[in-house]
Amino acid sequence: MLLDWRDEMVLDHGGLDTDHRDQHDLIRRFVDLPGEEEQRDEALSILEELRTVSTRHFAREERVLASIKYPHLAEHRAQHRRLAEILGEIIMQVEARESAFTFAYTKSKADELLQFWFFDHFAKADLRLKTHLAKFGVR
Ligand SMILES: [Fe+2]
Ligand SMILES: [Fe+2]
Repeated sequence: MLLDWRDEMVLDHGGLDTDHRDQHDLIRRFVDLPGEEEQRDEALSILEELRTVSTRHFAREERVLASIKYPHLAEHRAQHRRLAEILGEIIMQVEARESAFTFAYTKSKADELLQFWFFDHFAKADLRLKTHLAKFGVR
């Protein structure tokens, strides 16, 4: 199940945290929707919002990392690109009204993937930025 937002997840007391919280809230809203066909449009609009927020967020985070000359920026940026691609694939699956799978099945897969999508990168890559950000006074 999706982890609750916790104080340890705070990075900069600013824009990055707001974005992460927004991503977290949107994923929670998505997961909380029932897997019924009538919910497909709402599910898609949440995912589109997640895409907008995430595109803006990745650019913002990369700008901050560039400003502190973060040594693993290229790798971090590549991970963001991959996350954007995966989100695009999830959206295509949820959009596919002619799919061989029921919406309930598609959505349950998307539920799992999205939680992993957010937390795997966040826990393994974003939280590691904390000490670098603190060193450069971004917090
Ligand atoms: Fe990141
Ligand atoms: Fe991030």
